[in-house]
Amino acid sequence: MEDDLVLERLDKILSHMGMGSRKDVRALIKAGLVKINDHQVVDSGYKIDPNRDLLEVDGKIITYTRYVYFMLNKPQGYITATEDNYQKTVLDLLDPKDYRKDLFPVGRLDKDTEGLLLLTNDGHLGHMLTKPSNEVPKRYYFETLEEMTAKSLDPLLKGVDLGDFLATALEVKVLDQKKGELVIAEGKFHQVKRMCAVLGYTIIYLERTEFGPLVLDRKLPRGGYRSLKDTEIALLKASKG
Ligand code: URA
Repeated sequence: MEDDLVLERLDKILSHMGMGSRKDVRALIKAGLVKINDHQVVDSGYKIDPNRDLLEVDGKIITYTRYVYFMLNKPQGYITATEDNYQKTVLDLLDPKDYRKDLFPVGRLDKDTEGLLLLTNDGHLGHMLTKPSNEVPKRYYFETLEEMTAKSLDPLLKGVDLGDFLATALEVKVLDQKKGELVIAEGKFHQVKRMCAVLGYTIIYLERTEFGPLVLDRKLPRGGYRSLKDTEIALLKASKG
C-alpha cells in the first residue's frame, strides 16, 4: 500500500515509476545515472524512502508516484492497446511527461468507439474493474442507422442470444428515433454493436459515457485526458473487490 511504504529498493522504486523493467533500471543505476540526496548510488538494492529522499535520474529530479489514474476521452481512430506496430494506440495520446511504461487501458473500446477510458498502472484496480464476476456497469450512448420506436430496445432487458452468451442490458433508453443509451455489466467483444444488431439496428456511432462510478468529464476535449480526482479514485476503489 502506498501510504505504508517506507523503505524500498532503489531498482523497485524506479521500475514502479515506469522508468523501465528491473533490468533496465539496474543498468541505469550501474551506469551512475542515479543520485539519491545528491549522492551517486550504484547499488540497485540501496534502500530509500521514496516519499522523503530526493531522487535524481540523469540530471532530472523525479517525483515519486506509485500509481497514476487518467480519465481519457478517447477519440475514434485509436486502438485500445499499449503498443502496436501499425496503428495508433490510446497511449499515443499521452503527453511524454505523463507516459510510463507500466500504464495500460482498463477494458476495451473499439477503434471507432469514443468516450471514457481509464488508463492506470494500478494492476489490482484494473483487474477488479474488469473481472466479469464484479459486473461493473458501463453506460453507452449510441446512434443507429435505422429508426427505433419507444420500446425497440426493451428485448435487451430480457437478454438476447449472441451465440457465445446471453447478453442482457441493465438499462435501456430510446432518446430519439435514431439515438439510444444502454447500460451493460459485461464487456465482451463488440457487445453493444452485436446486441443492437440482433434487434436489426446498425450502430453508426458509439460513445462510452460512464464506467462504474466514473462519469465522462464533458470538459475534456476528444483525445484529452486528466488525472482522476482523489474522490473519483476513492469511489472506484470502493465500487468493487
Ligand atoms: N461495445 C461495442 O460494441 N464496442 C465498444 O467499443 C464497446 C462496447
